[in-house]
Amino acid sequence: MAEQAELLYQNARDNVAEWLNVSCDEIIFTRGATESLNLIAQSYARPFLKEGDIIILTEMEHHANIVPWQMVAEHTGAKIEVIPILDDGSLDREKLSNLLILSDAKLLSLCHISNVLGTINPVKEIIQEAHKNDVKVVVDGAQSVPHLKIDLQDLDCDFFVFSGHKLFAPMGIGVAFVKKDHLDNMVPYQGGGDMIDQVSFNKTTYAKGVQRFEAGTPNVGGAIGLGEAILYLKRINFQLVDEHEKKLLHLLREQLKGVKGLVEHGTTEDKAGVFCFSLEGVHPHDLATLLDAEGIAIRTGHHCCQPLMQRLGHESTARASFSIYNTEEDVAMFSKSLQKVLKILN
Ligand SMILES: Cc1ncc(COP(=O)(O)O)c(C=O)c1O
Repeated sequence: MAEQAELLYQNARDNVAEWLNVSCDEIIFTRGATESLNLIAQSYARPFLKEGDIIILTEMEHHANIVPWQMVAEHTGAKIEVIPILDDGSLDREKLSNLLILSDAKLLSLCHISNVLGTINPVKEIIQEAHKNDVKVVVDGAQSVPHLKIDLQDLDCDFFVFSGHKLFAPMGIGVAFVKKDHLDNMVPYQGGGDMIDQVSFNKTTYAKGVQRFEAGTPNVGGAIGLGEAILYLKRINFQLVDEHEKKLLHLLREQLKGVKGLVEHGTTEDKAGVFCFSLEGVHPHDLATLLDAEGIAIRTGHHCCQPLMQRLGHESTARASFSIYNTEEDVAMFSKSLQKVLKILN
């Protein structure tokens, strides 16, 4: 049974690798996007960065893609520079280009899709520009994996991370893709069972490859669940997913056109099916509580993006998100319920 579990665990790694179009020797299982970013920050960036080096982030990052870099910056003396966003929620590309040409710029970490604004960043173009300037790129794919077809050979990023639970797998499993060239330069930041070759009190040697970064008993069940979720996603045409989610977003915008005091955050042409909004005089938490009673679950709060909230001028916002399973009826129900709830709140 143990052997079978091991086989299924490694099969799951193969499924992930094939789906991302990379080698299974480049796939590390973690607890999620957060742990993957911490792993890259501690195992790759911390030994590599020196005082004065620049880590570039964007104003739309999730805390998981800010705090690990701040910790590394504190230890190494590296500096963090932030690319601002424009009013429509897109990146200020001029500022990005200016930062990339600085000789101390060493690493750029940015999200593929913003979890608040839905902005789809043109990461392929940005990676090419970064590499021309010898800047390594980490892509936070937490929000892109359920919405876009990802081909990591085509993107050519150095690192890519995501969490299983965003693509219908269980919680507590995630992935860090690390380009082979970087694996050997990384030092493990967690020690313990399974990541070693030989242990003695005089000296310990580490296992080779990705195993070096998977200390302790792995989340076998989670990984197998992730592998199965990916087999499911492989049957889906992502072009249709994109069209479907965009259609729902368009419908919702049409239906909410007349709602007084409603402001949508994130209005770029090419965005994921995320509708993030504020309503004048209405607290998002009150809105969510009343919508919950109508059977509608939305997300409210700072969405783990406090710096972005500051940029938007709100402490918290409301967000309705669409996925492959949502329908036009869901949109109609949401907009009808929203207007009903607003009558109570106003
Ligand atoms: C863009 C983005 N990055 C990172 C994360 C962190 O993911 P997790 O909490 O699963 O590690 C999230 C979670 O919502 C996210 O939306």
